[in-house]
Amino acid sequence: MKKIECHLECVHCHRTYDIGEVRYKCDCGHTLDLRHDLAGLDGAELKARWEKRWGARHGLDRSGVWRYRELIFDAPESCFVTRQEGNTRLYEAGKAGEYAGLKHFLLKHEGENPTGSFKDRGMTCGATAAKFYGAKIVACASTGNTSASMASYAVAGGMKSVIFIPEGKIAYGKLAQALAFGGKTLQIRGNFDDAMKLVQEVCAELNIYLLNSINPFRIEGQKAIGFEVLQQLDWQVPDWFVIPGGNLGNNSALSKGLEELYTLGIIDKIPRIAVIQAAGSAPLAKMWKEHTPFAPVLNPETIATAIKIGNPVSYEKSLRGLKWSNGVVESVTEQEIMDAKAMVDAAGIGAEPASCCSVAGAKKLVENGVIDPEATVVGILTGNILKDPDAVIGYHQDTLMEHYGIRGTFANKPVVIDPTLEAVRKALEK
Ligand code: F0G
Repeated sequence: MKKIECHLECVHCHRTYDIGEVRYKCDCGHTLDLRHDLAGLDGAELKARWEKRWGARHGLDRSGVWRYRELIFDAPESCFVTRQEGNTRLYEAGKAGEYAGLKHFLLKHEGENPTGSFKDRGMTCGATAAKFYGAKIVACASTGNTSASMASYAVAGGMKSVIFIPEGKIAYGKLAQALAFGGKTLQIRGNFDDAMKLVQEVCAELNIYLLNSINPFRIEGQKAIGFEVLQQLDWQVPDWFVIPGGNLGNNSALSKGLEELYTLGIIDKIPRIAVIQAAGSAPLAKMWKEHTPFAPVLNPETIATAIKIGNPVSYEKSLRGLKWSNGVVESVTEQEIMDAKAMVDAAGIGAEPASCCSVAGAKKLVENGVIDPEATVVGILTGNILKDPDAVIGYHQDTLMEHYGIRGTFANKPVVIDPTLEAVRKALEK
């Protein structure tokens, strides 16, 4: 099979650009897609190749992103930066499924990636693009996971990384990773949206390569979540995907990838996509429900700090995917997020708060009659439980009321006892 040609294309005016040029936006100001020349590609042959690569022990084929490289970015061999990302498990939801009222609920745990979130799938592709363009320094604004991932992949690719995070507003596990992996970490007095604006200016002025999901190569890598789910399901298409939305890159990637599989005849049904936002940071849900033009949320709030974003850069791509998949957008409250999280955690699976929007959202959509309880639903868990231990402990010690108005509905409180057999006996009897 010959190398597949790619170019950049504006989501809005469809102007195209050569990939030889570093670009994140069209001259008209809108975002860009990486487009592959799918004409003449044989879907059946592609699928057969991917099947052969499953479980590979050597080289690029071990990566759950690069296994699908024909539809990701078929870069020159010397450019690849990989940490064998992907290959994450697809769990039966157990208690979380009962809680959501679904009989066939599967959870794709992207928190099992090398740095503990789905960002590694986008980052392997973004870091590879950085090498392709000869970048020495990479940068991103982040609510935490992107920065942890970028810092790690920068090391793998022999590059320096500069991180812009909102001061005091990111989960400790993520900040710890960024520092530990050696990222130059700048805490901005402002929120994520301020940091996002600043990093774009900085990259343009200081010739630093931008690795936020506004970078079209990031989106390409994240398409592999959907590819891998389908391969795990023997290419049987679920009825629904339910996925959290913050900066709205991940759901854009999911629909773009699925659309390509559909165009190539690798799948023969279009699954519906439900994007779930936290109610305090829900510009897309507002637009969707109220049929109003897109307007940023000025002071986004939520305990799910990963998605505390008011001005998502990929909202146009997201809307396109929602239209293609006959999708829906829903928002969930702080209490709904943390109770759903308690159920994901109690199922022994565990995930960080933002991830659990998938379960909270699925439950709400079942209750509202949008998702059939008999439907096959895949929820995406985007980040690892250990990213945000404060949220877990706060919920189980029931100390989140004052700051977030959240009750520890399903709290499993620790018990303090004297070091005696009698005290243990008493504690176990309760
Ligand atoms: N879940 C987690 C755990 C995340 O870290 C993010 C985004 C999302 C969901 C939302 O994905 O932005 O593609 O809609 N985190 C970014 C970051 C913003 O900087 O780590 P999205």
